[in-house]
Amino acid sequence: MGQKRLLFLLAVFTFLVSSSYGRVLKLKSDDDRPVYNHTLAVTLVEYASAVYESDLTKLFTWTCERCNGLTKDFEVIEVIFDVEHCLQAYVGVAKDLNAIIIAFRGTQEHSIQNWVSDLFWKQLDLNYPDMPDAMVHHGFYSAYHNTTLRPAVLDAITRVKKVYGANINIIVTGHSMGGAMASFCGLDLVVNEGEENVQVMTFGQPRVGNAAFASYYSLLVPNTFRITHDRDMVPHLPPYYYHFPQKTYHHFPTEVWVKDFSFSNFVLFGLEKVCDNTGEDPTCSRSVRGNSISDHLRYFGVELKCESWRQCSIVMNQDMERYSRKDSRGNLFLSRTVPPKDVVKTSSLSKTGISSL
Ligand SMILES: *[C@@H]1O[C@H](CO)[C@@H](O)[C@H](O)[C@H]1NC(C)=O
Ligand SMILES: *[C@@H]1O[C@H](CO)[C@@H](O)[C@H](O)[C@H]1NC(C)=O
Repeated sequence: MGQKRLLFLLAVFTFLVSSSYGRVLKLKSDDDRPVYNHTLAVTLVEYASAVYESDLTKLFTWTCERCNGLTKDFEVIEVIFDVEHCLQAYVGVAKDLNAIIIAFRGTQEHSIQNWVSDLFWKQLDLNYPDMPDAMVHHGFYSAYHNTTLRPAVLDAITRVKKVYGANINIIVTGHSMGGAMASFCGLDLVVNEGEENVQVMTFGQPRVGNAAFASYYSLLVPNTFRITHDRDMVPHLPPYYYHFPQKTYHHFPTEVWVKDFSFSNFVLFGLEKVCDNTGEDPTCSRSVRGNSISDHLRYFGVELKCESWRQCSIVMNQDMERYSRKDSRGNLFLSRTVPPKDVVKTSSLSKTGISSL
């Protein structure tokens, strides 16, 4: 595995060096690029919203307020709550999409404003392993790679694949900081786990690495859409320095910019623009000043935030104990055996919740 991976990365690196001089590449002709799917985007934003649920019982049984609409037949396999770093994620199966869905929660700081202002100062301070010249921010990287999230996510994928077979799609999503983690997860699945059917869709994610990183990323996980909403501040951060292309943060493609058209404060409709394959299309979100927090917290009319920013807390029903386990550092996992493929989830299950499980 290790050697295979090294050879793979070497091949990618050779390709990049032989065809570029440090710029972000135009990797493929536009005809080959994965097609943006609006229906999928408005579905995934609901998954990215649900992961903010702090009642783990409702999240695990998929009975939360946000666990409805386009996502209602979803089957949760694993909920992960990393107490040490206050991170939350879940893994499950969306049969209608024939996909494993992995969703990461955004930050749970005391205030979103503080978190956003800190983004200005994030350094490119970590070399992405085995990718020469690729730099990322260690905090974003570690939130996925150096916490309980990664092993628990990988284990849940393995469990699902035993039941659904190796060809099931994998879709990774998240909002804000959760989008940053989703992109590291998607890349990890391709590079280290040899997964082939990986799609990533994020909402309002910050930049996570430099131009070299963006080049590797877009080559390895081409089926990635990074949705940005009008004047959302976060996709503008950490800053892009036009005059220092070698040193600056740089987004990977493909951005889809949703611009609002409103009339006396009512949003009438949003126009989606699929942006170019550089990652930094000057005619998309970069054409406006990113100065809005409210645009950050709402995508396609769906709220993406915790009910309260105050504390890192969860609620859990006693009955959940048989599904839960804690590790030595207090991190919490809710797991269930993957149900057989052809069992149809009955609606009574969602209504009466855990008592009928
Ligand atoms: C878009 O995604 C939806 C699922 O959300 C799927 O049913 C539909 O077939 C997709 N459309 C295309 C053109 O791939
Ligand atoms: C990973 O986490 C441990 C402890 O939380 C820390 O000591 C170590 O420096 C971290 N490694 C990276 C690469 O951030």
